[in-house]
Order: sequence, then C-alpha cells, then structure tokens
Amino acid sequence: MPSATSPPEWHRQPLQYSGSLDHLDYTEYSPIIGREYHTAKIKDILHAKNAEQQIKDLAITISERGVVFFRAPQDDLTIEEQKHFTDLLGKLSGRPEENGLHVHPLFRDENNIPMARTGRLTSTCMSSKFYVLNTEAHKKLFKSIPKNHSTEPKDLAREWHSDCLFEPCPADFSFLLMEETPKHGGDTLFCSGYELYDRISPSFRSYLETLTATCHQPAFKNASTAGGYEIMSPRGSPLNIGDDFAPSHPLVRTHPVTGWKTLCVVVGIHVSRINDVYDYEDKMIRDYMIRLITWNHDCIARMHWTKYSAAIWNNACVFHAATPDTQLVPGSVRIGVRTTSIGEKPYLDPNSKSRRESLGMPLI
Ligand SMILES: [Fe+2]
Repeated sequence: MPSATSPPEWHRQPLQYSGSLDHLDYTEYSPIIGREYHTAKIKDILHAKNAEQQIKDLAITISERGVVFFRAPQDDLTIEEQKHFTDLLGKLSGRPEENGLHVHPLFRDENNIPMARTGRLTSTCMSSKFYVLNTEAHKKLFKSIPKNHSTEPKDLAREWHSDCLFEPCPADFSFLLMEETPKHGGDTLFCSGYELYDRISPSFRSYLETLTATCHQPAFKNASTAGGYEIMSPRGSPLNIGDDFAPSHPLVRTHPVTGWKTLCVVVGIHVSRINDVYDYEDKMIRDYMIRLITWNHDCIARMHWTKYSAAIWNNACVFHAATPDTQLVPGSVRIGVRTTSIGEKPYLDPNSKSRRESLGMPLI
C-alpha cells in the first residue's frame, strides 16, 4: 500500500538522451534555458528511420532545456503531422497511455478559430485538437470577460503562465508554429522553473513544497453559457472532464522526464488561490514568484518569431509569456497554430532533487 507521499504508480525513472539528434546543428540560448536548431526540419525527424528514438530524444532535450526553437521554416509540416509529432513527444517520453492531445474547451464557439487562414490544412485534420492563436479571434472568443478600462499601463507580469493549468492533468508539451508574424514585436519569453527553484533558500523551498494552489478558470463556463453551447469534454485525458476547471496542483513538482524538482503552479491567470494560507500570504507568495522571474533574467530565453519558425516547450518546467505589442505595428498580424499534449497529474516525489543538485552544480 503506497503512503500518502509515495509517487503515483506511473511515476517513472528519469530518461537518458541517447545521442540520436547529435547530427543536428544548434546553439544553446543560455547556460540555463533554451536551444535553437538552425536548420533542422521537424518533418525529417518525423519520417526518419529511427523516428521514435529521435522524437524521444527531442522530448528529453526539451524537458532538460525547457524550450527548443526551430528556426528553419517548417511550412512543409502539415497540421496533421504537427498533431502527430506533438502526441508522440508525450507518448514516447512516458505520458499516461490514456492521454492524448488537448481539446480546446470552447471549440464549439461560433467565434472559434478561423481555420481557413492556414495553408497547412489537409482535408483530414479539421479537428478540435489544435488551436489557432489569433489575437483578434481570441478577443471574440472571450468577449464575455469584463473589459479592463484602466488608463494605467498594463502589468505585463500577468502574461507569465503555463498551459492548461485549469485541467486536472495540465499540458506537458506545447508546440507552436508561427504562420504569420509582424516584422518586429510579438516575441515569446520562456523562464526556467528548475532554476528559479534552485535560487530559493532551502528552508523556503521546503515550505513551498507543502503548498498547493487552486487553478479556477471560470472564463470557459462563462463563455459557453453566454454562447449557449456545451464545453468540450473530455479534453486529452479521462480526468479532464466537465466544466468546473478548478483543480489543485502542487507549487513544486517533480518533472516526470528528468526527475528534477521545479517550480510549477506559481504564476499566471489560471492560478486563482494558494491554498491554506491567508489572503495577504497568498499575494505575498505570488508577488515573490513574479519578482523571482524579474530578478533573474538569465533564466529567460526570448523567442523572436520568424515566418514558419516553431517552438516546443515543456509546461512542467517553464513559464512563458507573450509580448502584446503587435498592435504597435500598424497592419501586423500574428497567427500561430498550437498543438498540446496532456501529461500526468502533477506530483512531488519528496526524494527527487533539484536540477543543480542532480547535475552536481554549485548553487549561485
Ligand atoms: Fe500559453
């Protein structure tokens, strides 16, 4: 009988990179986070003789580096292939067998994704298992959210988040392929949860490891009620059902692929409340997490999108933030297609170590 602190039955041993991607040229973005492949084509990896080995190695690389960028245009990759590739990243790195790609809760909304904008569609891929990120479409989709009429500059720190925390089983891998991008602006930032965890004092880490947060996101239910349609369900896992969107997750989790501890559910609009603390303590902890990000900009990789470039990140160990400045470039559009794999329910293995501890690196 497992104890209350035992890892769940699908807990697995850390995976080791085998070297199958050593032929690809790349540059690390920084010592801490990010890698850019300069010429690699995802289609070639998907159709290689040892495709499963390469994709598994890529999943391990993404889990270690947090995010990888593919700079060469990936316009030859169909959306069906993008979906398949994303699904394989999760599957081959040990995701629960019953899970798959996330389904957008509001897929039935009449304002949902203008699919015809992309030229990568094939007749077989009109499904709910990808999102088109389009700023104008997004505004219509969430028109039931009250507008902020403040005349003060926006607090862009609220952009930091991880994908699908509103689900009992959140996202593991997100794959975003940018089809239209402004000449400048519209960048996405990624921050290492591993390294932020390593920069917290051991005593405060121990306290954070006792905490969970509720991730209540009422926007989906409000939008579906206003639109008179049902929310999609299930959404990439038999556990992601219904319209509550209010799971609790640990603030610190063990990454299932690397086995390293990482900050997890600490920032973003989906994190509604840190449980079992007073209101001012909830605010204090969350403000501190944002300050950790801004204090440690060496933990951040910044992706400047070019047409048909792609990024794949692992939501268990990185936070990301879009830069909402495209409206400053007249006539610019920013349209990307995102496919998202659903991972396991987050857990904390008390015997796991931090990234620096595991790699034998001294603390700064
Ligand atoms: Fe996101």
